[in-house]
Amino acid sequence: MRHLLNPLDFSVEEISQLLDLASDIEHNLPKYAHVCDGKKLATLFYEPSTRTRLSFEAAMLNLGGSVLGFASADSSSAAKGESVADTIRIISCYADICAMRHPKEGAPLVASQFSSIPVINAGDGGHQHPTQTLTDLMTIRSLTGRLDNLTVGICGDLKFGRTVHSLIEALVRYTGIRFVLISPQELRIPSYIRTDVLDRKGIEYQEVDNLDEAMPKLDILYMTRVQKERFFNEEDYIRLKDSYILDNKKMQLAKKDMYILHPLPRVNEISVEVDKDPRAAYFRQAQYGVYVRMALIMTLLEVAKPC
Ligand code: CP
Repeated sequence: MRHLLNPLDFSVEEISQLLDLASDIEHNLPKYAHVCDGKKLATLFYEPSTRTRLSFEAAMLNLGGSVLGFASADSSSAAKGESVADTIRIISCYADICAMRHPKEGAPLVASQFSSIPVINAGDGGHQHPTQTLTDLMTIRSLTGRLDNLTVGICGDLKFGRTVHSLIEALVRYTGIRFVLISPQELRIPSYIRTDVLDRKGIEYQEVDNLDEAMPKLDILYMTRVQKERFFNEEDYIRLKDSYILDNKKMQLAKKDMYILHPLPRVNEISVEVDKDPRAAYFRQAQYGVYVRMALIMTLLEVAKPC
């Protein structure tokens, strides 16, 4: 039995196979309509979500399976003090696979240690968000045709943004990846990403605070919101929340074939006027999230690809 807790739980080869499967699903959706008949997905969400929870549910329904779960800690027995370990033992009796989002880093890892079904980390605190990363990789590969030789700008809250940490860890395994990390000083990437991931692998990267200067160099611009829920102090959030606002004027500085990704939700870091730009890929990215989660459920449940 396998879990997905960290993007590195799958090798580059396995990710390639999973993205191939997701792409086949995208183009042949009806073929997959019954491959998970009789299977159940539990969505255990201790933190708010729109895309991750609902795309997991859509994914399982598209595969012919069923879904059960809770959308907030308050509506589960966590509110009465039940531990993650006990909860997953119970969910293992009710479902075949589960996706868990939790505000505490490492909660899905703990769940995996007590689970008899595959556990998928659907976001743990400021740590990791591996299924968003699979979505991001599918989006980049579908739009550019490759996952190597790219200059990737990542802008916004690089400290608390778990999608950023997972994406960097995943992309450094491909050749010719360069990063421009754009953030205010206070929201720079955690030191473990800098030393254990970027420096250790000899990855070329710059840490800058000016988005305009970075724009012309980029093949991909990954925008992120400032993560209000992870700040200890509201004053700091208010001071930093509008550090970057991508608008049409800034887009004029970008390459004609640079794509903008965003894990969403957006607050105001991308002006709505940019949505009409053909390089704005964030809504397509959310659609890819369904296909990639369908492929992931099939992979972890060891469901064969239909003929
Ligand atoms: N991208 C993402 O995780 O969105 P949600 O918080 O809506 O799930």
